[in-house]
Amino acid sequence: MCGIVGYIGKRDAQSILVEGLKKLEYRGYDSAGIAMYTEAGLQVKKAKGRLAVLESHLDGAPLVGTVGIGHTRWATHGKPSDENSHPHTDMTMKFSVVHNGIIENYTDLKEELIASGVTFVSETDTEVISHLVAREYDGDIVRAVQKAITHLRGAYALGVLTEFEPDRLVAVRNASPLIIGIGEGEHFIGSDIPAILEHTRNVFILNDGEMAVLTKDTVELMTIEGNFISREMIHVDWDAVTAEKAGFDHFMLKEIYEQPKAYRDTMRGRVDSDLTVSLPELKLSPAELANIRKVHIVACGTAYHAGLVGKTVIETSARIPVEVEVASEYRYRCPLITPETLVIVVSQSGETADTLAALREAKANGAHVLAITNVVGSSVAREADSVMLTMAGPEIAVASTKAYSSQLIAFFLLGMYLAQTLSTQETAWVRGIVAAMLALPEQVEQILDNTDALREYAESIAVHEHLFFIGRGVDYAVAQEGSLKLKEISYIHSEAYAAGELKHGTLALIEDGIPVIALATQNALLEKTVSNIKEVKARGGVIFGISDVNEATALGKAVDEVYAIPATHPLLTPALSVVPLQMISYYASLARGNDVDKPRNLAKSVTVE
Ligand code: M6R
Repeated sequence: MCGIVGYIGKRDAQSILVEGLKKLEYRGYDSAGIAMYTEAGLQVKKAKGRLAVLESHLDGAPLVGTVGIGHTRWATHGKPSDENSHPHTDMTMKFSVVHNGIIENYTDLKEELIASGVTFVSETDTEVISHLVAREYDGDIVRAVQKAITHLRGAYALGVLTEFEPDRLVAVRNASPLIIGIGEGEHFIGSDIPAILEHTRNVFILNDGEMAVLTKDTVELMTIEGNFISREMIHVDWDAVTAEKAGFDHFMLKEIYEQPKAYRDTMRGRVDSDLTVSLPELKLSPAELANIRKVHIVACGTAYHAGLVGKTVIETSARIPVEVEVASEYRYRCPLITPETLVIVVSQSGETADTLAALREAKANGAHVLAITNVVGSSVAREADSVMLTMAGPEIAVASTKAYSSQLIAFFLLGMYLAQTLSTQETAWVRGIVAAMLALPEQVEQILDNTDALREYAESIAVHEHLFFIGRGVDYAVAQEGSLKLKEISYIHSEAYAAGELKHGTLALIEDGIPVIALATQNALLEKTVSNIKEVKARGGVIFGISDVNEATALGKAVDEVYAIPATHPLLTPALSVVPLQMISYYASLARGNDVDKPRNLAKSVTVE
């Protein structure tokens, strides 16, 4: 999940690489480096730490040239250090490589290279690639790369330069994302679109097993075996400013405030004026849908939590049994997948390795795979049978917010479409929910206009080390997401429990003063939840309750403080109740002085298993 950027053209490569790396820092930020072809030959500058450290090195001694590759690292093999930073070189310093992914057989390759006299300077898996390329070089860098990668097993996106051919930049993709940017008299590589968006909107997306050879004037696309291929160029509509903070202190805050737009954009074109849902992207006919016997939802982290809500939505609307599973567990337990199973994979980035592996497992077993993803052209989007795009726009903060809530909207749309197509619910029921969905963006805006109490509460919990979330039904699903968000960016330990389950053990952990956030948006379950709240309160828990405006007075009598969200249909409450939880996490992280957008030990896109 490292970031790669590369440039070949006529402009100052250093500034283009450094600016590109800034856009990619969310992919990994424990070290950064660049390699450039200069008058003195191939030069490498790299440093442990944030990109700013590398920049300070470059300030004193800039690299001058018009060809280069850059990398921002999220450590997998070898600790964050100057030596382990990319780019890596061979012993002669004539070849330089940046890599995103993991070389699974690097230990064997390393032993073999050491036996042949190679000296390694890093602990990384990547360094074997630079030595292999050097070993295979016979005057043609493309051939050398092609030969070198035949030895590799694993995932890699690569950028490769050699001092011997300063007018060529070679890029390879195998199971790690890589795009090629097309300019005039200049070309780019990037592991993600924002890295090059400032310079071009025209891109080629490489598929697995493909490579590109860039000069300043040409781009040749070929398979790794060397067969030339042609590819349609994609024009990216994203506004460069969209990927910036736009006046907010943090990307996370900006992205929380973008949720009304993300909801509207995700519903746009899918909700008809008669309040029915159209999903032409679902490539299953009504007859095929009627044949679906079960649904598996597979995802990781926050996307998995969206799946938990999706289960209730689909089971309620389509009356089809749904299982939800974390992707890293799914394929290793021989899941019962048949051609009558609809497998829904959910991934913001569309590049999460575990989710991609689950998708492949599902396809191999004959299931139709529907991807809910935020990134056009991502691996998940390209490999799934049907793709439902969430229209959240680029999400930069590591903590997912608008992508999660847009995934909820996607599940609502899917649920209503299924109910409509399978006639499992009355038309009026579907229309009522669709009408309520259309009101959600404005209701989120109301919540975002009323955050003072959330800030105060967050500041009060920032001194605590433990916290609990409780809820029933979809409130429990949202509680799990709230708990992950809080842990991820505030580093406060928290646990989410089904409210009725606490007394089966966890209640032992409740002691005087422990903060508990109780979600009670399911009006039909309010009394039951209130009973559970009282069990906690009797043991000293301090409770912050969240309900809709209609029940706030009743809930207020049982809790220490209550926060009211606007009223909506009970199935839709997650799209509202998650917002105060996101704000509480944000403010708690701020109060603790943490790096909100780049929490420790984490990366935005997890492309290793
Ligand atoms: O890109 P994906 O949605 O596949 O990512 C899955 C998780 O890694 C991601 O949701 C992670 O849990 C977030 N950092 C949580 O905020």
